[in-house]
Amino acid sequence: LGDGPLKGRHVIVTSGPTHEPIDPVRYIANRSSGAQGTALARALRDLGARVTFVTGPAAVPPPGGVEVVAVQTAVEMRDAVTAALPADAAVFAAAVADWHVVNASGSKMKKDGSGKSPELDFAENPDILATVASMKKGRPKLVVGFAAETDDVQAHAEAKRARKKCDWIVANDVTPATGIMGGTENAVTLITGNGAEEWPRLPKDEVARRLAVRIAESLV
Ligand code: C5P
Repeated sequence: LGDGPLKGRHVIVTSGPTHEPIDPVRYIANRSSGAQGTALARALRDLGARVTFVTGPAAVPPPGGVEVVAVQTAVEMRDAVTAALPADAAVFAAAVADWHVVNASGSKMKKDGSGKSPELDFAENPDILATVASMKKGRPKLVVGFAAETDDVQAHAEAKRARKKCDWIVANDVTPATGIMGGTENAVTLITGNGAEEWPRLPKDEVARRLAVRIAESLV
């Protein structure tokens, strides 16, 4: 573990999409690449933190020098985060599926010739960010959520910060025309208890470095 302002600190980072099975070979997923969460884990590591990196099936490899916990589903991600506590800070960059399929099939679903389509029943997944941010005992000192929005980014993100009881929200505009989701750059608004800061459009690595510095400053 390196030296630096986060030496001796434990930070949990969630990243990537989740996969919610339909049957043994099919799943529901989303377009998160895991790029921003991965960059953040690397930046926190570079400032000396011990990082537990809880990642869904991402398109980019995890960084070295962090403890990688690979998961598939939201429930597995929740369990991995809970098991990794306590932590000084927790950053929730994962794009967690809102629902899982309750009646997922244990064997591969097949067309039966009747022309009928399968019916999937959904149930809500646990909100990992809200769960950790609401902890009465052992809550990390700093809990950071992300908000991927397509309209009214700041207003929605402020509301999300209040609803989920997290300390900060990193909001970004994922309208397809921005190229942010799956791209190498990000334009974020950092929302803290002291208001909103609009950051310029920057490479995701640079957004990660600046966020890691702010996290380090908030933990002193
Ligand atoms: O409500 P929404 O999904 O937009 O909130 C996004 C934030 O909440 C992200 O930080 C995401 O990682 C986190 N989240 C979570 N568990 C969920 C859903 C979202 O940790 N089930």
